[in-house]
Amino acid sequence: MDVKNTLSRRSFVGGVAAALGYLGLDPASSLARAQAGGGRASLDEYDALAKLANNENNWGPPQSVMDAMNGAWKYANRYGYPDGNIVQAIADHHGVSRDHILLGAGSGEILNVVGTTYLQGGKKVVGVEPSYGSVYSHASRLNAEAVLLPLDADFRQNIPRMIEATKRNYREVGFVYLCNPNNPTGLIVTKAEVDQLLDGIPEDIPVLIDEAYHHYVEDGRYAESIPHVKAGRKVIVARTFSKISALAAMRLGYAVAPPSMIEEMRTYSMGSINALVKWGGAAALRDTAAQTKVREMTRDLRTKYSRELEAYGYEVIPSQTNFFMVAIHRQIQPVIGEFRKHGVLVGRPFPPMLEHMRVSIGTPDEMERFMTAFKQVFPPRTTTVAQG
Ligand SMILES: Cc1ncc(COP(=O)(O)O)c(C=O)c1O
Repeated sequence: MDVKNTLSRRSFVGGVAAALGYLGLDPASSLARAQAGGGRASLDEYDALAKLANNENNWGPPQSVMDAMNGAWKYANRYGYPDGNIVQAIADHHGVSRDHILLGAGSGEILNVVGTTYLQGGKKVVGVEPSYGSVYSHASRLNAEAVLLPLDADFRQNIPRMIEATKRNYREVGFVYLCNPNNPTGLIVTKAEVDQLLDGIPEDIPVLIDEAYHHYVEDGRYAESIPHVKAGRKVIVARTFSKISALAAMRLGYAVAPPSMIEEMRTYSMGSINALVKWGGAAALRDTAAQTKVREMTRDLRTKYSRELEAYGYEVIPSQTNFFMVAIHRQIQPVIGEFRKHGVLVGRPFPPMLEHMRVSIGTPDEMERFMTAFKQVFPPRTTTVAQG
């Protein structure tokens, strides 16, 4: 028992240190100690930071979701318990049967499960760089190769190039990864382009479409990819409750895929979803008013601060998500530390876009603090920024 506790505490502290390093924080700082269970002042320090580094929803979960979660405490001591019918609720939401759904502890687990299922035996994943790198790091843990394609000059994903790379590696491709909208750029792949991709590659190659940020998209050329699952294509759509529903720390995501693929993947999933978040997730699906509010507040702040940055001379990639990238014309790594000194956490480096900074949309107060810090870290630029 003691050995187990020591080991698990060690790995917890290690995980926190790694996460803080990743946030641009010194793992030896009081904040790091606070995160590992230390003093109260340090927790206050954590609370005070403007957290614009991880594309979270800084407004927190809606009341309806918290009420549903609080109502589930009475099941905390159970193994078998009423679970809010979360799988059925998701299936109904998408108009598919339950056997199309696999729950994960966040969509991060789903991405890993897809990798473990389809990359074994020397298979490759095809995708762009930069994108949500966790897919590629999991591939490297499996000794699988990632065929990484550059973005176009306008930072969009190049679908013909993706088709070509997939066909060229055909027999070795385990799956194609399409993050839509893409993290870190915030740019969409249009419905026509998704169709083009699926029409252009052999039908037996699985395509993982990561729609973590789809709730934020307002561009009419975008479409969700669930219809491809319904049409029987080997498409896995990954979804999360971490973003629009603000449940990142509670860990709930899911895959929508043809039943035969769900069965293949289920072997590798942990199935460890807690009772509270199952009830919270079901409530979140029902509370569409809360989602609309978050989408609108996010869009308004994104527009406001993108315009301010551009007026200050810094180009912003026109995002459809709860984050944007700004061209900083300097290496990002030291800049992360400079913002940290102003109490603002900004996104990690996304090679090869090392002169861009990813900024998550926070509350109005956090965005104001970000803008103030930006003007202290960077001088105004006189270059004319192309509008559009
Ligand atoms: C594109 C994308 N996919 C998946 C995830 C994983 O999110 P979660 O595991 O919290 O569902 C993230 C998290 O930031 C993301 O940006």
